Amino acid sequence: MPRFGRLSRAEDIASKEGLDALIISRPSNIFYLTGFRGGSRLISSPDGEAFILVGGVDLTAAEEHFSGSGVHVLHVKLGEQLDEVMLKVLEELGAKSAGYDELPIGTYKRLIERLGVDGLKDVSKQMWELRKAKDEEELRRIRKACAIAVRGMEVASELMEPGRTELEVVGEIEREMRRAGSEGHPFNLIVASGKNSALPHALSSDKAFKPGELVVVDIGATYRGYVSDMTRTFVVGEHEAWQEELYDIVLRAQEEARRAVRAGVRASDVDEVARRIVEEAGYGPYFVHGLGHGLGVEVHEPPRIGPGVEDILGVGYTITVEPGIYLPGRGGVRIEDTVLVLEDGHEVLTPFPYGLRP
Ligand code: GLY
Ligand code: MN
Ligand code: MN
Repeated sequence: MPRFGRLSRAEDIASKEGLDALIISRPSNIFYLTGFRGGSRLISSPDGEAFILVGGVDLTAAEEHFSGSGVHVLHVKLGEQLDEVMLKVLEELGAKSAGYDELPIGTYKRLIERLGVDGLKDVSKQMWELRKAKDEEELRRIRKACAIAVRGMEVASELMEPGRTELEVVGEIEREMRRAGSEGHPFNLIVASGKNSALPHALSSDKAFKPGELVVVDIGATYRGYVSDMTRTFVVGEHEAWQEELYDIVLRAQEEARRAVRAGVRASDVDEVARRIVEEAGYGPYFVHGLGHGLGVEVHEPPRIGPGVEDILGVGYTITVEPGIYLPGRGGVRIEDTVLVLEDGHEVLTPFPYGLRP
């Protein structure tokens, strides 16, 4: 009867849904439940049997990680079909029903045919629900990932000089964060200058900074499988009035939205606080994305913080608050923090001074 990592939570889902087995495929769910980074499928039954299916590349690590846990490590050998190994496990469990978080459509069809069932139960929502509120260990890792990103932002803020290129600055940030313990970059880091700063998902390039340009710096780190996400916007040298106007609106929207963050508040209501400020300033059409998102093992996790999102924030959720205004062809401003939702408010986990030249 393995009670390893958070596996009992998968067993609870299987029991509650009346399922004979759960098939977990999303890597972040396998990691969340077992602490193992790798593996192709995790199969768990409500009575505590669990199997991790791994290819040769993960076998040694899996045997070490699950040693003594009661979780069976199954090697899917070269030339073997993952689906066939999975079916064998399900047949051995005598599974007449199963839930899954995500599966390729071909695998889904093969499974229902071979198990002789009408369908499988999608439990992805239940899995995401588990992951929204972070426990103490998760928070420790997220805090560290945030602290590493803050180090990266310090380096970035010192490099806002004409002639530096976007990619050069990305490189310096990555170097600092790696040295501070980041295992990897949870997304392509963004250093976007001038016109590029008006592209929310800009791709950094060899473009050099010019005097008077806005520079959006959106970075994150990964620490023991958990991530951070933060953005500051700087100016190279002297700024113009329109840039300060944009900055002040975005900062006010960010601060007021953060002030609205607490347990029990609807995600859409937090978005609305920021959106109203930007709209009243006349820039509504240029705030082209939601206010933020949950994050943890992945950089984008439920809940989304955006219009129409009914999710209620809970204690221990880690979310971003990141309003932005993007004027095509001119430039953009985004300010983003990772924050922790508390009973009566929030804690900023990515403290770094605000301002075009902090
Ligand atoms: N850096 C990705 C995001 O802010 O959502
Ligand atoms: Mn970001
Ligand atoms: Mn973000």
